[in-house]
Amino acid sequence: MALNHDDKEKAFNEIETKNSERPVKNVCVITGGGSGMGLATAKVMGESHYIIISGRTVSKLEHAIDELKLMGIEAEAFPCDVSKREDVVALAHRAMAIGDVEVVIHAAGMSPTMADAQKIMAVNALGTIHVNEIFYDVMSEGGCLIDVSSMSAYFMPKAILPMKAFKLSRVDKKLFMAKMMKRVNLFPKKMRSQIAYGMSKAFVVWYAKTDAGKFGERHLRVLSISPGSFETPMGDAEKDNLQEYIESSALKRLGDVEEIAFLMAACADKRAGYLTGVDILCDGGCVASGVGSIKAKLS
Ligand SMILES: NC(=O)c1ccc[n+]([C@@H]2O[C@H](COP(=O)([O-])OP(=O)(O)OC[C@H]3O[C@@H](n4cnc5c(N)ncnc54)[C@H](OP(=O)(O)O)[C@@H]3O)[C@@H](O)[C@H]2O)c1
Repeated sequence: MALNHDDKEKAFNEIETKNSERPVKNVCVITGGGSGMGLATAKVMGESHYIIISGRTVSKLEHAIDELKLMGIEAEAFPCDVSKREDVVALAHRAMAIGDVEVVIHAAGMSPTMADAQKIMAVNALGTIHVNEIFYDVMSEGGCLIDVSSMSAYFMPKAILPMKAFKLSRVDKKLFMAKMMKRVNLFPKKMRSQIAYGMSKAFVVWYAKTDAGKFGERHLRVLSISPGSFETPMGDAEKDNLQEYIESSALKRLGDVEEIAFLMAACADKRAGYLTGVDILCDGGCVASGVGSIKAKLS
């Protein structure tokens, strides 16, 4: 039986009332939230926010959700490959449907031993463009987006960085990727994954910094955090390359994920509301030691 106009209005009003009675959730989206720093941050942010973790491997996400739920954290998983724009759009829609998107921690990334240079660039650089562009439109006022870079960004000599290509990221993504890869391919094949990683992470720092003005117009904050050597599945995969950095650093040890999780949560907190357009290096004093420039490796 078809509903007449009055019935429809009554049904609509009932839904509206139910919705307005439902408490609005403060949502925190964490890309790469199935493991490592992302998962550790979910455990801290989960004290005050509804958590949506994303990544590509469903089994990993499910395992992480079990862990979060055991801690009494309200959370769900949403599979998403950040290098695919349509996946990030779907993630943003899901987050909006749940509540106010207050915090986005973009921790998804791939390191040099995990993939070839093209893939690393697509996930780390293009993925960051997707996350920042798409979540800019859906975040609620006062919100904060944190892009996770790396101390590797600090090891890239400025002369190597294709700054003109960086600027193309806001105009033509296809050309941006082509120019970034053209620069990477100037290097010997065995160095390309490493160069792509450092270059993509230097781009992340630049992108977050230069996005701050735009984010400010919507009363949003955006910044990047550059971790040093941390004990995570990625840190483990890179451990042969990390020894030199650990030994040279001021603290002479790997970072614990809880340490970076606390930093992310503190930066995202509204009480840090004047913090935007910067990179925060959290590396146990590694870069300060002067170790590890790409220039040294080339000579
Ligand atoms: N650990 C370190 O020493 C270190 C140092 C400097 C910077 N970082 C940066 O810190 C961030 C977190 O890394 P982590 O150390 O916590 O390592 P991790 O445990 O390997 O976390 C990375 C996460 O990113 C996800 N991911 C990879 N590619 C993705 C894609 N295309 N789309 C969506 N998710 C993707 C992975 O899940 P799936 O594979 O299932 O997608 C994984 O859960 C990364 O951006 C990394 O570059 C780490």
